Amino acid sequence: MIRCLFVEDDYVDQLAFKRLVLAERLPWAYEMADTIYGAKAFLKKESFDVVVTDFHLPDGNAFDILEMGLDVPIIIVTGAGSEQVAVDAMKAGANDYLIKDSDRNYLKILPLTLNKAIKGRIIEDRIKAQSARDSARVVIIGDSAAMQDANKLINLAAASDAPVLITGETGTGKNLAAKAIHYKGALRRGPFIAINCAALPENMIEAELFGYERGAFTSAVATKRGLFEMAEGGTIYLDEIGEMPLHLQAKLLSVIEDKSLRRLGGVISRDLETRIVASTNIDLEKALGSSFRKDLYYRLSVIRIHMPPLKERLGDIPELCRFFLNGLTGHNITLSESELTRLMDYQWPGNVRELRNILERAVMLQDGSEVRPSELINGSGSHNTVNVPHEESIVTLEEMEKRHIKMALKRCSGNVTRTAAALGMSLATLKRRIKEYGSF
Ligand SMILES: Nc1ncnc2c1ncn2[C@@H]1O[C@H](COP(=O)(O)OP(=O)(O)OP(=O)(O)O)[C@@H](O)[C@H]1O
Ligand SMILES: [Mg+2]
Repeated sequence: MIRCLFVEDDYVDQLAFKRLVLAERLPWAYEMADTIYGAKAFLKKESFDVVVTDFHLPDGNAFDILEMGLDVPIIIVTGAGSEQVAVDAMKAGANDYLIKDSDRNYLKILPLTLNKAIKGRIIEDRIKAQSARDSARVVIIGDSAAMQDANKLINLAAASDAPVLITGETGTGKNLAAKAIHYKGALRRGPFIAINCAALPENMIEAELFGYERGAFTSAVATKRGLFEMAEGGTIYLDEIGEMPLHLQAKLLSVIEDKSLRRLGGVISRDLETRIVASTNIDLEKALGSSFRKDLYYRLSVIRIHMPPLKERLGDIPELCRFFLNGLTGHNITLSESELTRLMDYQWPGNVRELRNILERAVMLQDGSEVRPSELINGSGSHNTVNVPHEESIVTLEEMEKRHIKMALKRCSGNVTRTAAALGMSLATLKRRIKEYGSF
């Protein structure tokens, strides 16, 4: 049922509306108001999916309703000859309008208009929900002085539209920081598009980033929008920017300077409102003048954020462990003091990513009640900088699967249907495995 508020003071129009709903068996539950006062009273106490309102009413006009700033689509109905009013109403936030005619034909298209308004709303809600889900995932953990500095810069970057350069070793949270900047900033409702410059073959980067017109090169059989255009109104995140070939660096520089872009083989430049965030885990300053353009470097690093390596903020480890273990198991798991001490005694060359991976494996392999990630660190001394487990400690895939199923069953309180769904396997397969493995 669509809940609709129909605001109309003309008795004949009211009647025509009622007839329409009845005759067409429309799935609408409606209320009627014949004044602004009445409409406001309804809107304050009930929720509607859509409001259809006549423009002129005895005690005001549709703008009085628009001014309430409600989060509901509003369709304006106005007399012939007052199209300008309808356009003004759209500018003030109305979703659509219908022009009244003497035969009340406008009512025939009302169902279509109404469905369109509601459908638009559903899509908008989905985009909002998606962006809320994404932004909810952007949690940056860490209270150390080094992280506080980084967080301050992230907030500063979010509040501006200047290009940002994020530096830091692998796994320190550069992607996370880029997302945080996007989702905290003014363009959060726009897209966030991440591109790894090192992963794209050199001959494809240009076409992917800037798009092309039909015929720009032999295989360009149709026009293609580039990623910069797709990120319009949002953020483009250029990961591993140090790998970008020099001739593309020149093109990127001109995009930043002119805030406009031309597709490959294109003649017209289009204005571009895309925020640029770049990152690198190499020392770009060393590459300046050789493999990286100085002018681009200075353009990109208007705001520069350095994500500190984990070894410089070992004090953040307990909180990071709590956060990841909670995310992995859904429970609050506290590691023992000795575990934490061992974790804080390690150098973490893979940084936060390595810590997260080790915790993930520790949870999977846990057999008793205690989670012991420190056992998975190669040795546990601070001199170890590589984390390659000894071959003997590698468990077989079968054993891994058995333990994983056991853990999943435990977390789903033994419910096999839910466990199968969570593991992404069919119920029959799960049951067969349980039988094969015998007891757990
Ligand atoms: N401060 C943090 N709080 C919570 N999670 C974090 C933090 N830093 C990193 N992570 C997590 O660690 C993982 C690696 O982070 P991310 O991908 O952002 O690193 P990166 O610096 O981009 O690495 P690379 O240089 O390899 O691309 C991600 O799962 C991320 O969510
Ligand atoms: Mg990254």
